[in-house]
Amino acid sequence: MNLRVGEILKFYERQGKPAEQEEILSALREIQEVLGCIPKAVQEEASLRLGVKPSFLAAFVKKYPEFKEVSEKYEIQVCTGPSCGAGKALEILRAVEAAGKQKEREQGISVKIVKGRCTRQCGKGPNLKINGVLHHHMTPEQAAELIRLL
Ligand code: FES
Repeated sequence: MNLRVGEILKFYERQGKPAEQEEILSALREIQEVLGCIPKAVQEEASLRLGVKPSFLAAFVKKYPEFKEVSEKYEIQVCTGPSCGAGKALEILRAVEAAGKQKEREQGISVKIVKGRCTRQCGKGPNLKINGVLHHHMTPEQAAELIRLL
């Protein structure tokens, strides 16, 4: 967890007693300011620390337009053309999907994963594109690491 977010939650934490609505709003505003969003994992941690149900806290995030669950968006195209597909394209797809889900949950960064067509760079495959930028000679581990570094 982000150090600053940890400090914010510690400040608003009320040792076993549920936080007041104004305190919850203030905590969420500060977290939004630090992270640019309030990711699901942070919401879960905040609900624990503030002594309220996760659904109650999630309702706050949804109710106020100033709060967002996601701050950035990326589109990943994993080439599943004949050459890349014969390589490790499906393993890469699975690795990227898992890393993408973790990224969104923990950091509020949306990662949309799609199967891409052949980009005529077959000799450099397996290939994937991140927001239109091609990455060559991918392994599942390298692809997942790229997603983690977004
Ligand atoms: S099959 Fe992937 S670039 Fe051609």
